[in-house]
Amino acid sequence: MTTQAAKEVPWVDAWVRWERNNDDGDTDHDDCNDVEEDDEELPPATESYTFTYPNPSADSDIVLELKGFHEDSEQIWNSTGLKLWRSSHYLCQHLVNEEAELLQDENNTNLRVLEVGSGLGRCGLLAHSLSHDNATTVLTDGDTDTLKQLRQNVSTNTSAGDDTITCKQLLWGEQHAKDYLSQQPNGKKHFDLILGSDLIYVQSVIQPLFETVRTLLCTHENAKFLMAHCSRREGNEVELSMVLDAAKKEGFEYEELIEDDDISLFAFRRKGAETET
Ligand SMILES: C[S@@+](CC[C@H](N)C(=O)[O-])C[C@H]1O[C@@H](n2cnc3c(N)ncnc32)[C@H](O)[C@@H]1O
Repeated sequence: MTTQAAKEVPWVDAWVRWERNNDDGDTDHDDCNDVEEDDEELPPATESYTFTYPNPSADSDIVLELKGFHEDSEQIWNSTGLKLWRSSHYLCQHLVNEEAELLQDENNTNLRVLEVGSGLGRCGLLAHSLSHDNATTVLTDGDTDTLKQLRQNVSTNTSAGDDTITCKQLLWGEQHAKDYLSQQPNGKKHFDLILGSDLIYVQSVIQPLFETVRTLLCTHENAKFLMAHCSRREGNEVELSMVLDAAKKEGFEYEELIEDDDISLFAFRRKGAETET
């Protein structure tokens, strides 16, 4: 497994982090700018989660062991990816039930899978496990503390020397995505399948997220972005219509695959994508 991303920097974009009410009623955007130095130790994770999934093409189940932080932990105010989010469950169910065949297709060993905003890595690690190393999987996050925990989780759940999974820093936005592509060696760079769960909780990330997906998704008709989205979180300033309008503006059409109370799973595909020959 490759764990070193080139030139990672602490993430200092306060606006994509949570706002927390101070005692004086003000919000702490200024505090958010006090990002911990990259070399500051992340304390040991306090929570352990074990997930077991059936593996459609094998006798044994897939077991994922993740570590993270409790939702009351101070750590997660700055790094939301350090805890587990509910929507990931829906994306994982869909991966097992509907995408295993694609991930395990031996006629398509070039398949490339990207997870954006991986957090603790539940969905990306499951996709990797389902693929039996058939696909190349890249787990990403923008936040450096989250990346540290993500890398530990990747390391715990993969065998040493597995070079079909990597962990990279990827901030959202067109330019970041183009920079990412330009750093990749020659050959296929775009992704056939992009995954994400619980990514949008402030308006400012919506457009950068879809720019990222537009820039990194393959152009063939089967390429898709699967996103599990929670639309009714306390204090949520994001309407679902804002998400879907932004996706349309970036050239995507969508299909709602699962709807359960406040959580939906969408498949976004490019409008007028190339038909494969
Ligand atoms: C609410 S957490 C969800 C984590 C995980 N997908 C889950 O479902 O448990 C949102 C994740 O997106 C990442 N994120 C938010 N805004 C981002 C941005 N602009 N660029 C890159 N990552 C971002 C956060 O660091 C965090 O890991």
